[in-house]
Amino acid sequence: MLQTNTAAMPTNNAGAAIPQLGLGTWQLRGELCATIVSEALRLGYTHVDTAQGYANEEAVGEGLRTSGVGRERVFVTTKVQPQQMGDGDLQRSVTGSLKKLGIGQIDLLLLHWPNPAIPLADSIRALNEVKRRGLVRHLGLSNFTTWLLDEAWRLTTEPFAAEQIEFHPYIEQGKMVSALRRHGMSIIAYCPIALGRVIGDPVIEAIAAAHNRSAAQVTLRWIVQRGLVAIPRTSKIERLAQNLAVFDFSLTDAEMASMSALTRPGSRLVNEPQWVPEWD
Ligand SMILES: NC(=O)c1ccc[n+]([C@@H]2O[C@H](COP(=O)([O-])OP(=O)(O)OC[C@H]3O[C@@H](n4cnc5c(N)ncnc54)[C@H](OP(=O)(O)O)[C@@H]3O)[C@@H](O)[C@H]2O)c1
Repeated sequence: MLQTNTAAMPTNNAGAAIPQLGLGTWQLRGELCATIVSEALRLGYTHVDTAQGYANEEAVGEGLRTSGVGRERVFVTTKVQPQQMGDGDLQRSVTGSLKKLGIGQIDLLLLHWPNPAIPLADSIRALNEVKRRGLVRHLGLSNFTTWLLDEAWRLTTEPFAAEQIEFHPYIEQGKMVSALRRHGMSIIAYCPIALGRVIGDPVIEAIAAAHNRSAAQVTLRWIVQRGLVAIPRTSKIERLAQNLAVFDFSLTDAEMASMSALTRPGSRLVNEPQWVPEWD
């Protein structure tokens, strides 16, 4: 196992200990997905991110089992599809996710996208119920704007531990980050290496060269050093170790600032046409 420190876990008001580096699995399917998950866990990853919409919960479950790593050592996140967010449908979908994953409890369950066709109060009631029934340990959100976030808090009796947002050096998310911090939530950065676009960026490559690291590594370091959680995805076994090895070096304040200065308009990468809210 690699010498890494994924035990660095941001705290949040819900008391969830979320490992700061996780494995993304969007677009990974079948045997490749199972193999990547299994290899990642053997290497020392302790956090895996999936979703009902990725159609890979069974493969993720197979990877969990074949890794030989104890269930208690892995933090598993899945997300409820927007179509399943009605009261009744949500509970049934969570039972389905547990079955596909082959586990007894989900560590973190997120609403994947806001769905204006279903009253948010119904979704939140259903979320609270699956937590009370012990099907999930912690609740969270994904792609909720600051307004929807406040609305979700107003409707819930159980706390939200985290929200997943698109976060990389190019996207401006200051308003969202402040709102999530105000609510005491962990922030999970998706598309942390901007779908690979950080590779070849002159500013990032220069910082990477100064540390004898890759552009992916310094970008992930920039995220975890800011106290966020990053969930990079790779389909290449040989990149798994690289993406995990971001806890044994640090960036200077000047390097952090020059990466933070890379934000530019129009850099949002994930815009699910059917579900996008009016972004902040
Ligand atoms: N909540 C949401 O709505 C939402 C939305 C999007 C994503 N997510 C989650 O966040 C995870 C991460 O986001 P993402 O998958 O969209 O994008 P990402 O992790 O930013 O980028 C993945 C891309 O980067 C490449 N890559 C990975 N490591 C690399 C390295 N060391 N060097 C060079 N290239 C590298 C991968 O190619 P190879 O496969 O060739 O390595 C892949 O094409 C997802 O997998 C998913 O679990 C959530």
